[in-house]
Amino acid sequence: MKTLIVFYSKTGNTRKLAERAQKALACELDEIHFDEKAHEISTELDPAGFERVILMCPVWAFNLPEPMTLYLKRFGPGIQTYRLAVTCGRLGLRGCVSGCKRLLGKAPEIAVKIRSKAIQSGEYGIDGILG
Ligand SMILES: Cc1cc2nc3c(=O)[nH]c(=O)nc-3n(C[C@H](O)[C@H](O)[C@H](O)COP(=O)(O)O)c2cc1C
Repeated sequence: MKTLIVFYSKTGNTRKLAERAQKALACELDEIHFDEKAHEISTELDPAGFERVILMCPVWAFNLPEPMTLYLKRFGPGIQTYRLAVTCGRLGLRGCVSGCKRLLGKAPEIAVKIRSKAIQSGEYGIDGILG
């Protein structure tokens, strides 16, 4: 299945997760770059060309971070099947799933959270995302 991992990471946790998953799946990886002053994003690839998109981002205030919200507003209509993996201090997966449903009009196939502590210690699995 042609898969794309799209990620946003401010402090590196989600980047580690995304790069590990990309190696395991040997799929395309695209980073969301965020201009905080202009509130604008930029990416390289169009998710419409992929059968499955895996979205990865941190939780911000129990919800999707602005860069991922902007991404989904721009590219949502072209996204077919998707999965969601968030990294967080502790809580916030539910709000991120709600945000995705609102913006994409459908639920993710799979939604998982991984705590930042686990990423930093390297003690986390990714089978739940790749499944
Ligand atoms: C602005 C901001 C808001 C955050 N809000 C939450 C939150 O609501 N719940 C939580 O568990 N962690 C929260 N965090 C922690 C991050 O989700 C967590 O550190 C994440 O792994 C950061 O990912 P990154 O290194 O890829 O940017 C927040 C961090 C920031 C910077």
